[in-house]
Amino acid sequence: MTEKTAFDTDIVTLTRFVLEEGRKAHGTGELTQLLSSLCSAVKAISTAVRKAGLADLFGIAGSTNVTGDQVKKLDILSNDLVINMLKSSFATCVLVSEEDKHAIIVEPEKRGKYVVCFDPLDGSSNIDCLVSIGTIFGIYKKSSNSEPSEKDALQPGRNLVAAGYALYGSATMMVLATASGVNCFMLDPAIGEFILVDKNVKIKKKGNIYSLNEGYAKDFDPALSEYLHRKKFPPDNSAPYGARYVGSMVADVHRTLVYGGIFMYPANKKSPKGKLRLLYECNPMAYVIEKAGGLASTGKEAILDIVPTDIHERAPVVLGSPEDVKEFLEIYKKHSC
Ligand code: F6P
Repeated sequence: MTEKTAFDTDIVTLTRFVLEEGRKAHGTGELTQLLSSLCSAVKAISTAVRKAGLADLFGIAGSTNVTGDQVKKLDILSNDLVINMLKSSFATCVLVSEEDKHAIIVEPEKRGKYVVCFDPLDGSSNIDCLVSIGTIFGIYKKSSNSEPSEKDALQPGRNLVAAGYALYGSATMMVLATASGVNCFMLDPAIGEFILVDKNVKIKKKGNIYSLNEGYAKDFDPALSEYLHRKKFPPDNSAPYGARYVGSMVADVHRTLVYGGIFMYPANKKSPKGKLRLLYECNPMAYVIEKAGGLASTGKEAILDIVPTDIHERAPVVLGSPEDVKEFLEIYKKHSC
């Protein structure tokens, strides 16, 4: 008699999922190669994040990155891992990283057709206090036949082929959005594979959480102040919204995807374009949220419609449950008239 086991012997790994999607779309397999290489980088970053203290990876590495943040050792390690793994996938030609001033042009012998914009370790101010951090990525097809250049990354988010993030939280999760929807894969450290745990995820139509850094309230514009007042003192006497703000975009957006509600990093008097970067923060997250049935806007236009002019440009962002974002946009419109 053979012994019975409790193992699922037909698990859907991220690679299997992408292979199946590629087969349905009659793809060449290049995107599968790319995502499987990216997964290897994410697994290595996850391991590094989890043993950071022991491996002496905490602390400041002594330089600042192009956007002015202090560079931590884990940032450097994560950046190197993502770049090296993406190059070795033979599927990319141009890489844009939060950590590098200029786009990285992949060596001719390693080139493929994809352009990838990424933040290798987002929320790095949270590393030292063990709060969740993440990796964000957006994948485009090179749109011209010319020699690869930085210009190839200046595409609107609408052109994304796939986007998502890895969250290094109480577990490590990869959230992948493609044309067909949003799927979540949990890292099983025992077998080193990302396993499909949530299929075709949809965001709630309306939530009950708002999320932003309210410490900047003195510089908020009147529309935002009115919106927040309505959440705290609802005019119809319904329950007020809860406030949650981690300060790591990946964690704040993931909570918004799972529980619903609204996440904002708006423009204010001091920072007219907000803080978050369009190519590797706002666009990938807007793509995930839209594919899950939500909305992502600057207040004036959909994030995914912005045509970038600089690889490190910023954009104000309001994203989340469609009814919550619409309510904000109505107030915003009223104030702009
Ligand atoms: O851009 C990096 C980042 O850490 C994001 O992950 C996060 O949403 C934001 O900055 C937090 O900024 P602040 O400290 O101004 O609230």
